[in-house]
Amino acid sequence: MRTHRIASIPGDGIGVDVTVEARKVLDRAGQRHGFTLEWTEFDWSCERYARTGAMMPEDGVERLSAFDGIFLGAVGFPGVPDHVSLWGLLIPVRRAFSQYVNLRPVRLLPGVTSALAGRSAEELEMVIVRENSEGEYSTIGGRHNTGRPDEFVLQESVFTRVGVERIIRYAFQVAGSRSGRVCSATKSNGLVHSMPYWDEIFAEVAAEYPDIHSEQCHVDALAARMVQQPDRLDVVVGSNLFGDILSDLAAAVTGGLGMAPSGNINPPGEYPSMFEAVHGSAPDIAGKGIANPVAQVLAGAMMLEHLGERDAARTVETAVSDVLAERAVVTPDLGGSATTSELGSEIAAALG
Ligand code: NAD
Ligand code: IPM
Ligand code: MN
Repeated sequence: MRTHRIASIPGDGIGVDVTVEARKVLDRAGQRHGFTLEWTEFDWSCERYARTGAMMPEDGVERLSAFDGIFLGAVGFPGVPDHVSLWGLLIPVRRAFSQYVNLRPVRLLPGVTSALAGRSAEELEMVIVRENSEGEYSTIGGRHNTGRPDEFVLQESVFTRVGVERIIRYAFQVAGSRSGRVCSATKSNGLVHSMPYWDEIFAEVAAEYPDIHSEQCHVDALAARMVQQPDRLDVVVGSNLFGDILSDLAAAVTGGLGMAPSGNINPPGEYPSMFEAVHGSAPDIAGKGIANPVAQVLAGAMMLEHLGERDAARTVETAVSDVLAERAVVTPDLGGSATTSELGSEIAAALG
């Protein structure tokens, strides 16, 4: 029997509720497809921070390095400032394991209603390829507190040639296996250093892929296009911040944050990759048992695919889509009244 060793970090808020359900589904997929997921759970969270003063232990990253994959719920909860919790767990893991691709596929499934009126499933399928290791997410800068009106803060961005080139190249490769179209999110009209550099490298890489249709679009106009002409988009590549914002928008047009999975990928496979939903810990619904577990389940399917369990990944995706198409058991965000665990169990049962 094949065994995959997985580190599970449920984290905070609904991260805990949805990982339980996703594990139920993934374990069932393992039974059906002849593999075992050997889970090790870590209680790293804002609760741990409150107890110990740290989101994870000092050797946290080292402990994770031995696993085949990392399955993360969500990080962050009121009580701990968001920049403290996220820079204490999620972001350091992404960087330590050089998970420089944040792959965020979105697809409108039958039975799910888009926030856009009159759009059908075939028109809404995109993947955001988000830079995940540098860019606007940076600790460089500082506060210049003077207590006077002249005080200011500086927040620097870092765009390296290696970092920009590898994410753009990855996007072209993804496009090669899909529609053959890539759109790059830029903002070179406002940002005079980083984005012109990004565009230059995009053009260089595009020249290596003459068969792929490439274009660039200012991120503001791209946001409008994602709403008005989403069928004209397929692979969208963006910097860390642009990719972050566009991925929540893309989730919204394909049924909401409860539907969107995400993989933090280390393409060479020298370190573990990490799979999570696009959404966060949703404090507004945490503990109510109504979070939609589908995003986390689909993140699990991405993890199975990454582990080489392609058939199992497809089975999980089919189970999700069958259950949602039935519409009998869906959570409130999708217009139903099922609980998180009812929907999780229904998907697991659909695996047979
Ligand atoms: P959020 O994604 O947690 O929630 C935004 C809205 O979407 C809320 O109204 C929430 O109820 C709804 N929502 C999200 N997931 C849902 C689901 N599965 N089912 C139904 N509704 C869902 O974003 P936020 O409120 O900006 O962030 C809350 C906390 O999570 C913050 O601490 C933030 O930093 C953190 N966060 C963490 C991650 C991560 O760990 N990857 C991602 C995003 C935000
Ligand atoms: C995400 C989240 C994180 C990000 C936050 C919580 C730091 O929004 O995974 O999309 O911006 O990367
Ligand atoms: Mn985000």
